Amino acid sequence: MKKSEYHFTFEVYDSDAELSEQDAWLLQEARKISRFAYAPYSCFQVGAVAKLSNGKIVTGTNQENASYPAGVCAERVLLGTAGSMYPEVPIETIAISYLNGNGNSDYPVTPCGICRQSLQEFEGRVGQPIRLILAGKEGRIYIIPQSGMLLPLAFTNEDL
Ligand code: THU
Repeated sequence: MKKSEYHFTFEVYDSDAELSEQDAWLLQEARKISRFAYAPYSCFQVGAVAKLSNGKIVTGTNQENASYPAGVCAERVLLGTAGSMYPEVPIETIAISYLNGNGNSDYPVTPCGICRQSLQEFEGRVGQPIRLILAGKEGRIYIIPQSGMLLPLAFTNEDL
């Protein structure tokens, strides 16, 4: 028997002031768009904004449903839009922010398990990593260099 380890490194910033101009802009857009999420059941509004390698900006917000499992996360709305509008174009960076029902939003939340799987599929499909910027409306910021890092030992198309 031998033990294997998995490490990944990500960046933690104390405030927007430490970000590049472009990252700060993308994050600001994600914060703005979270207000347009359709989340009447959870009152947890998520906004995601992507910059594609062709320079286009694509957005997504969570879309809930009275039949709860029919709801879709912001990340997967975004990936569906990017994949249908610009099928072969890599996504360079996605900024993701949120507002919760109490108006608190002061730390980064990370994509749920299903979204991690979908992000991983998109990375494989276009053959390029997706960088994530994660933050609340204030507080510290995480930058994950490659979304696949959030899903070690992933199941992929190579396993089929
Ligand atoms: N949600 C997202 O949009 N992205 C995530 O990564 C986590 C959760 C949404 C799903 C649901 O509409 C609400 O947040 C509460 O779970």
